[in-house]
Amino acid sequence: MDFSNCWLDYRPMEIKEQALSALSVLCEGEIIESAVKEYQLALSRMTGREPEVFREKTNRCVALYLEPLLPIGKDGYEIKKEKDSYHITGQSESGVLYGVFHFLRLIRTGHMDELPVSNAPEMPLRMMNHWDNMDGTIERGYSGNSFFYENYEILYNERIEQYVRLMASIGINAIVINNVNVHQRETYLITDTYLEQVKQYAALFARYGIQLFTSVNFAAPMELSGFDNCDPLNDKVAQWWKDAVKHIYEVIPEFGGFLVKADSEGRPGPFTYDRTHADGANMLAKALAPYGGIVVWRCFVYNCGQDWRDKKTDRARAAYDNFIALDGQFEDNVILQIKNGPMDFQVREPVSPLFGGLKKTNMILEVEIAQEYTGQQIDLCYLLPMWREILDFDTFSEGEGSTVRQIVKGAQYGQNCCGMAAVINTGNDYNWTGNDLAAANTYGYGRMAMNPSLTSEAIAKEWIELTFGAAVADDLTKILMDSWPTYEKYTSPLGIGWMVTPHYHYGPDVDGYEYDRWGTYHRADRNGLGIDRTPAGTGYTAQYNEPWSAIYADRNLCPEELLLFFHYVRYDEVLKSGKTLIQHIYDTHFEGVEEVEEMIERFDGLQNKLPGDVYDRVRERMERQLENAIEWRDRINTYFYRKSGVPDEKGRKIYE
Ligand code: GCU
Repeated sequence: MDFSNCWLDYRPMEIKEQALSALSVLCEGEIIESAVKEYQLALSRMTGREPEVFREKTNRCVALYLEPLLPIGKDGYEIKKEKDSYHITGQSESGVLYGVFHFLRLIRTGHMDELPVSNAPEMPLRMMNHWDNMDGTIERGYSGNSFFYENYEILYNERIEQYVRLMASIGINAIVINNVNVHQRETYLITDTYLEQVKQYAALFARYGIQLFTSVNFAAPMELSGFDNCDPLNDKVAQWWKDAVKHIYEVIPEFGGFLVKADSEGRPGPFTYDRTHADGANMLAKALAPYGGIVVWRCFVYNCGQDWRDKKTDRARAAYDNFIALDGQFEDNVILQIKNGPMDFQVREPVSPLFGGLKKTNMILEVEIAQEYTGQQIDLCYLLPMWREILDFDTFSEGEGSTVRQIVKGAQYGQNCCGMAAVINTGNDYNWTGNDLAAANTYGYGRMAMNPSLTSEAIAKEWIELTFGAAVADDLTKILMDSWPTYEKYTSPLGIGWMVTPHYHYGPDVDGYEYDRWGTYHRADRNGLGIDRTPAGTGYTAQYNEPWSAIYADRNLCPEELLLFFHYVRYDEVLKSGKTLIQHIYDTHFEGVEEVEEMIERFDGLQNKLPGDVYDRVRERMERQLENAIEWRDRINTYFYRKSGVPDEKGRKIYE
């Protein structure tokens, strides 16, 4: 099977309805032309016949309309059947394109009975962050090398075009083309060294309704122009940025803006000059504002030079502590990009308290599609259920109902500069995402940002039907839906995180980060484990609004899946299930491996229903997942058995 088309695989199918073979284009624009091309391509692949395109009204056709007054929301669309024709009406050109992609999905999956539909993207910004470097590597990339860069050159080929189509089809409207860690050569991306080539990307993106962003180096004036500082309150530095931005827009009028990682993990930033992050972000924002550009400023700022002996400093507190006092100080075109949890994309974390803290600041939720800590696209881990929990989390910032979803879609405080951003999981692997099934996360992210009312299950099913067909939908949906809980079971218990191989982040190493500088400890001893983040401990729980601050601080009320994140718990303490903590650890680790075995069995049942190459590739990953799960089970169980001396009640094999 040619998997390079992913969910835009338009396998041949029988289409009887005559109306579908004529397209009547009653609007104009370059994005509209992309919509027309998509329709033509899809129909000719599915039916073997090119649909006829008319630039006027005809009978029995699919008609495209643009109606800016359509009362439906920005970039929304409506699809309905009228007499013998289908009408796709967009509120904007992008709306028409999204409508066409939706219509094609309905045809492909045989769900035309869902018409009429009307939809508008819920998250204003639906952004992808690439962590691609210009040498061709991808930071935390598990699907080969970059398809944007090779050997410090910018590539332009069919794959880029294919990629842009895939992104537009799931509603992505902003793409950052380089890693947040901006290295030496990438600093030049916003200069004449590369701008003409970046422009080619920007123009292609624009044809599909997507804006191009770059990550920038806060110290660019020093690295590029020999400045001796990059103090954001230095007029000369501010002028340097104004000039740089002016030039960018001369070359690329549709440029989106900058993503910035400052004062984080060794990156330069305003702290060096005793300035705040508002000073830093605002300087860039003022340079971008005249052109409608924005600054996306990351809140992943913490002390990464911690001493494990110090139990007071708590990395979880850092984002809130660094940003809360700046609420209301940012320019209108600054968005703070906040990771979903207070640590770093672990398999289970509480939701970052910043979402419920900031009230006068634009915010965007950052998630990681790349499975850095969740199996690296070897192990299966469908992340939509996790993201759904995050979006549904009620921050109580303005009483009940102030969910993360309300906040980042701009409904809580009326912002329109907000949304979702994700670290993407693609590379130049033939199947784009290493594990064929990991594309469910790529697809699902876009669909969820467009429409968070869709369930994770519905999205999984939709992706499977588009990619592989309906015959495998039930089994594969089950496999996907079970995968996050299973992964959680065989890895670190109850929200503690970090028991991974340092640096690589795949596979177990219980003490790998225990005596390191990154602020990532589990504090296991012979009596128990966990971090006391209550007021008696690091005080982190106080960063939440009530009732969460009280709930998290109370050992008995704290949601159990996060127990060890918030509390130090003895091995013999009894959980709600009636099991002791140590027994819970043993049981979940045995169960995790059993569930992987069951998953493989279920998957084997699909052997004859899946294309052979897909089956082989996924099956090979599943073998590796099983090995990994066994290694996790045995290391974790042995570690805690050695610490506690408590045997497994069920007498299963735990190595001494
Ligand atoms: C994680 C990841 C890094 C990345 C960082 C970030 O720590 O391991 O590779 O640079 O997040 O989000 O900036």
